[in-house]
Amino acid sequence: MPLASALFHAGYCCPASMQAVNAVAVTLSELSQVLPEHGTTTDREEHAMLKSQERSRAIFDAAQKFIPGGVSSANRRVEPNLTFTRAEGAYIHDADGQRYIDYHAAFGPAILGHCHPEVNQRVTEAIDRIDLVGVGTSELETQLAQKIVEHVPSAEKVMFCNSGSEATYSALRVARAATGRRKLIKFQGCYHGWHDAVLMNVISAADKIGKKDLLSAGMTPEVVDDTLVLRFNDVDQLTNTIERHGSEIAAVILEPIPHNIGTVLPHDRFLDALRSLTTEHGIVLIFDEVVTGFRHTLGGYQAVAGVTPDLTTMGKAIANGFPLAALCGRAELMDHCGPDGDVFFAGTFNAHPVGVAASLATVEILERPGSYDHLFGLGERIRSGMNQLVGRHGVEAITTGFGSVFVTYFMTQPIDSYDDLLRNDAAKFVRFRREMIARGVYMMPVNLKRNHVSLSHTAEDIDSTLEVAEDVLRKMA
Ligand SMILES: Cc1ncc(COP(=O)(O)O)c(C=O)c1O
Repeated sequence: MPLASALFHAGYCCPASMQAVNAVAVTLSELSQVLPEHGTTTDREEHAMLKSQERSRAIFDAAQKFIPGGVSSANRRVEPNLTFTRAEGAYIHDADGQRYIDYHAAFGPAILGHCHPEVNQRVTEAIDRIDLVGVGTSELETQLAQKIVEHVPSAEKVMFCNSGSEATYSALRVARAATGRRKLIKFQGCYHGWHDAVLMNVISAADKIGKKDLLSAGMTPEVVDDTLVLRFNDVDQLTNTIERHGSEIAAVILEPIPHNIGTVLPHDRFLDALRSLTTEHGIVLIFDEVVTGFRHTLGGYQAVAGVTPDLTTMGKAIANGFPLAALCGRAELMDHCGPDGDVFFAGTFNAHPVGVAASLATVEILERPGSYDHLFGLGERIRSGMNQLVGRHGVEAITTGFGSVFVTYFMTQPIDSYDDLLRNDAAKFVRFRREMIARGVYMMPVNLKRNHVSLSHTAEDIDSTLEVAEDVLRKMA
């Protein structure tokens, strides 16, 4: 197994807009402390690993000439700059032929595993018959909308778009149109996409908490000003804010589990307060289930929690890696979006047969008995396995998560809100993951990012991951 000290030779790179997220660069002086631990690394092994990244590096170097920073989406440029050329089930393969067990799952879509044969077949069948026509509706789109209405408690009607950001943008616009109000509430630690109303306060530095922490230059101040950022799980703050400003607030938007900071579980009391306060004050409650939709059951986390929002956004796992997102909710709100409503909802590629066919296949597979038992069972296996390991090796860490999602924080409980995660040792978090990558287990080496298991992962994959993790933890201890 290649032990890649080379992997650690460059600090962790980050988009400028995400400085706080990524204030975890492993510096060369830290490296000099890290490297002696790799006592088994020989020059030959190191050379083999360096050589084994040659093709990845060549592709990445070429990309940097034509694509800013070499990547087309924030957070994709990470050390090591591997280029993946094949993905299959639970595994991804880099350009130099190294195989990794994949828990990154492209930030979540691959719920069935990569290149799932049944999904790919359905997509192929669809595009053999029809591609994008762009007029009227399609049978497939109607079938999928019906499936979503059957499964997602809040969904009476559905509209399709291509990305989670489009869905949350439209959800907020519908809320403003329906209420005639401007202000929004979001929570520190939740991410809802790249548009101005919500692109703030996700992984913030300690001194930015309680202030506006914008993730991009070029955002419109008036739009930013209309968003209030509150503390997740803080019922008192929520109650006070809504009691004071309720008549100005159009929507409260949240990830029901803020998975963009790993996993912070919502308190029942918090979800109940959200539902009752928004109802009482005529505010639209939006669950952003772009990560949790289909992943934490076909009904999303709202089906688990038993709290039904007014609008729901979905994306990522709903089409197992093909581009598709959805906005769904109460008919009365959704009807604002139709051609007879007052909200403009459009997109050349909306409800493209590729994404819709992929999603129909994904739903049908997830509907099969045992699918969620498998996903949740493996999630629990890795969470409990990791917690045993850190106990055995005396590492201060906790593995938490929900269902198929897991994350190991280098800290202790409690974890109730984003500010608790400031206690996470970010350098250890990233170092652990880089060591895992060097041993063939891909976990995104970015602070607070979650991991995902898919239906293609097996108990053997989890057990070999735990073996690798034990090796890493032993060294880190
Ligand atoms: C909860 C949540 N909402 C919205 C988005 C935006 O989705 P997209 O990247 O498809 O625009 C994301 C993406 O990570 C997300 O995690």
